[in-house]
Amino acid sequence: MPQSMDGLNGSMVSKLVLLGLSGSWETKAILTVMFSLLYLGIILGNLFIVFLVIADSHLHSPMYFLLANLSLIDVGLSSTTVPKMILDLLNEYKAISFQSCMAQICFIHIIGGVEMVLLIAMAFDRYAAICKPLHYLNIMSPKRCILFVVIGWVTGVIHAMSQFSFVMNLSFCGPNTIDSFYCDFPRVIQLACSDADKFEFVVAANSGFMSLITFFLLLLSYAFILVTVWKRSSGDLSKALVTLSAHITVVVLFFTPCMFLYVWPFPTSSVDKYLFIADFALTPVLNPIIYTLRNKDIQIAIKRLSKQKNYVRFC
Ligand SMILES: *[C@@H]1O[C@H](CO)[C@@H](O)[C@H](O)[C@H]1NC(C)=O
Repeated sequence: MPQSMDGLNGSMVSKLVLLGLSGSWETKAILTVMFSLLYLGIILGNLFIVFLVIADSHLHSPMYFLLANLSLIDVGLSSTTVPKMILDLLNEYKAISFQSCMAQICFIHIIGGVEMVLLIAMAFDRYAAICKPLHYLNIMSPKRCILFVVIGWVTGVIHAMSQFSFVMNLSFCGPNTIDSFYCDFPRVIQLACSDADKFEFVVAANSGFMSLITFFLLLLSYAFILVTVWKRSSGDLSKALVTLSAHITVVVLFFTPCMFLYVWPFPTSSVDKYLFIADFALTPVLNPIIYTLRNKDIQIAIKRLSKQKNYVRFC
């Protein structure tokens, strides 16, 4: 099939080969089962949250709207890579068409961008609720909440397209093996025949900058919250510490691979592909757990739901 994507003049590669996750037959079988269960957990856990937030009018508040949005985004993020990764574990020859590879990169960066903005919005929401309780409803008005979600999508699209416009100019003429289970800029750029150094810089500057800024904004808002709680009373501090440490753990899990891949100035080994499993399979399953398990409103909503015999009302 001739390669005829607009803007990819001179490219001759139509199929890329992913090396995927390697290992013995037994390892692959175990990984297949493990990732299938994780993916099932991601779909069920996150869609359950979306369902709960839509169905229960007591949860119609900024925090839960953002949480439901984050859940949808988490489903999207893991769906860009995990199903393909599971199928490839069972396949000997792991090919992906050039177009699918580009589409995968695009979706990862759009959805990843939305996720980062939503995480900031949710941290800001908690900061407003805990540090400025009297102004909370003013600060997190429904309008501003919608604005956060819109900013997330606009940021995601601009973030992905700004890098993509550079990669469109590269020509791919020969090497086509990617030592990973998914496509992303750094590895794909390395396959280009034209000089790709400056494109590597563009990706590091864009994706790296975005991950770093988001990471520090999140840590900063958590620090503000901790200091506020600590000043107010020492009794609440341990409770806040437990909750926040769960959030910070997930944030560190999510951002370490990003910073490792985009900010680390040296050529990365194949370690980062394993690190990214945290982003695509672990944090999407952890988010519903940490945001709901210790949350009274959600527990009450689940009880209310289970008492509700007539589910048809919700449809
Ligand atoms: C996402 O957030 C917007 C803005 O607050 C809200 O209107 C929408 O219902 C949310 N989506 C879900 C699935 O809850």
